[in-house]
Amino acid sequence: MRTQVGIIGAGPAGLMLSHLLHLQGIDSIIIENRSREEIEGTIRAGLLEQCTVDLMKSTGVAQRMMREGHFHEGIELRFKGKGHRINIHDLTGKKVTVYAQHEVIKDLVQARLDADGTIIFSVHDTSLHDLETTQPTIRFKWEETGEQEEIICDYIAGCDGFHGPSRPAIPETVRKEYQKKYPFGWLGILAEAPPSSPELIYANHERGFALVSTRSPEIQRLYLQVDQNDKIENWSDERIWEELQLRIASHDGFKLIEGPVIQKNIVSMRSFVCDPMQYERLFLAGDAAHIVPPTGAKGLNLAMADVQVLAHALGEFYRERNRGFLQNYSDTCLRRVWKAERFSSYMTTMLHRHDEHTPFDQQIQLAELDYVTSSRASSTSLAENYAGLPVECPKDWIKKLETPLLKN
Ligand code: DHB
Repeated sequence: MRTQVGIIGAGPAGLMLSHLLHLQGIDSIIIENRSREEIEGTIRAGLLEQCTVDLMKSTGVAQRMMREGHFHEGIELRFKGKGHRINIHDLTGKKVTVYAQHEVIKDLVQARLDADGTIIFSVHDTSLHDLETTQPTIRFKWEETGEQEEIICDYIAGCDGFHGPSRPAIPETVRKEYQKKYPFGWLGILAEAPPSSPELIYANHERGFALVSTRSPEIQRLYLQVDQNDKIENWSDERIWEELQLRIASHDGFKLIEGPVIQKNIVSMRSFVCDPMQYERLFLAGDAAHIVPPTGAKGLNLAMADVQVLAHALGEFYRERNRGFLQNYSDTCLRRVWKAERFSSYMTTMLHRHDEHTPFDQQIQLAELDYVTSSRASSTSLAENYAGLPVECPKDWIKKLETPLLKN
């Protein structure tokens, strides 16, 4: 097989990249080791920054999100039993949107298939070759026959997540990896219940962090900080609700509306960055290059920002034969990535229980929360990062795509 850009991974990064390339007349093939049902059914986080929403809108994949998403103008930080609202919209002019990642995936898969895009699901044994040549290739095995296939590409985009084969294809001598693991994880549930609060609540409690999010008028998404080695079997539905109620309780008698738990899982938490995000003709995007702990929900949004930069850079190459943006890809992305790493680490540190904290450290944490919710300067900084920092791409580049493409 032959394509201009071979994309490994049909997550938000791979799908959006393929969509953005298509809009510029650039050909791509996506391969994915899971099935369509699996990628469309995996429950993940669901908070979209304004620029992710704007990207989806300006590229024609936002119709369902605009109908079914929830647009929030603020969040609540709750500590010492009292809620403090941060008015994101007032402070930044932006909103955030609650719309689950697997819904974004469904919309993008549909858009690619409607445009006759190629997504090959359920492949095995994916590997990358000849990255230093002008014809880098991807090899994989077909699900049905087990036969080996080869895709010859101009460029390869590694959008295959933290455990995919793309990052290890960069020689170890070339890449530097930065990592921090947290000694706790998040237990996430979906519950059949109406919303308990009109906006998200991030709660700091001496028993640990809790987060109240939402999905629909009938389904709620909630999270609890648990020990990193904890097992989901230890958490009956009754225990989950009891713990959530304790951590979210406020002096004004607030109670969560409970309902049947229809899904529950535990995710571990880490911060990770691979530098550079590019090697020869391989470009990493999304979780293949960086991981953030979930507090503040930056993961999906970072992936969308990466592929926006990459799609623009590839467009400049195919339209103008300008390689400058491709050469700068890693530096451009990493500037934003490190700021999101900083923010995610800040939110995680400020809101979670840390077993190693001394009483002094605990008072500093509470002072931080008091400061961020009482100083306009500090809450503006939180709001600006929460709503999303700008993507380093020429403004309105998508709208300006009129130059005919050079044919390969
Ligand atoms: C959600 C997840 C997050 O990590 C967060 O900070 C906010 C919301 C969610 O899944 O709804």
